[in-house]
Amino acid sequence: MDPAGTPTGYDRLQSQVIPGYGSLARLAVALLSCSPEARQTGSDVLVAGCGTGAELLEAVAQRPDWKLTALDPSAEMLAESRQRLSAAQTSATVFWQQSTVEDLLDLPGMEGRFCGALSVLVLQSLPDDGSKLAFLTALARSLKPGAQLVLVDLMRSALSSLEPQLDAAWLAFQAASGLEASAAVGASQGLHPIGLARLTSLVNAAGFGDPARIFQALGFEGFLLQKRA
Ligand SMILES: C[S@@+](CC[C@H](N)C(=O)[O-])C[C@H]1O[C@@H](n2cnc3c(N)ncnc32)[C@H](O)[C@@H]1O
Repeated sequence: MDPAGTPTGYDRLQSQVIPGYGSLARLAVALLSCSPEARQTGSDVLVAGCGTGAELLEAVAQRPDWKLTALDPSAEMLAESRQRLSAAQTSATVFWQQSTVEDLLDLPGMEGRFCGALSVLVLQSLPDDGSKLAFLTALARSLKPGAQLVLVDLMRSALSSLEPQLDAAWLAFQAASGLEASAAVGASQGLHPIGLARLTSLVNAAGFGDPARIFQALGFEGFLLQKRA
């Protein structure tokens, strides 16, 4: 069993290719904690795509009063998250939900329920064929008006002529960082990064205001988004 906070295989992988990965979840939680809705004691907060629990561990450490909904469609990821949270021996309230955000809205009481949400490294895995918009729309619908979402994702360069070079360089960077070829991911292998203009248009269509960038490291960017009142 992994003691709380000890990096799992997945987390080690992320730390190898994302500078500041260890601080990312900490900053995301701190940002939401200071937001107008989620700063209230006992706020309902959604961790969308909780994976192995990096954001959850930070959330229970910084805001043990929050009522957290930890959501992920992968049973394996949820199991690892639960194990790490239980090792952290937190008294925080955590509801576990094996589901996508899109399917969460089918459950009663989820519309407009949350005072804030975190989505770290999830949107990048969804193709831009309506799936990204459906994910963002579901997140917006799950939030109260004026509530905020912290979104962190791999972004695409603004200059499309550079894309082939950047895709190749991203794979080379992962290899040089010690990742085996089978573990490396690129735009053609399960990641679908988009640029800022496209992100802005998608989040506006989903019901959020314009994204405010609060973090940038290599190709990764973090944004604060507010659901329109
Ligand atoms: C790259 S992991 C990131 C995990 C964690 N947020 C982190 O930063 O370490 C992406 C996670 O998003 C989940 N996921 C994929 N599609 C999703 C969706 N539509 N709704 C919610 N979670 C989703 C995956 O199962 C996976 O656990």
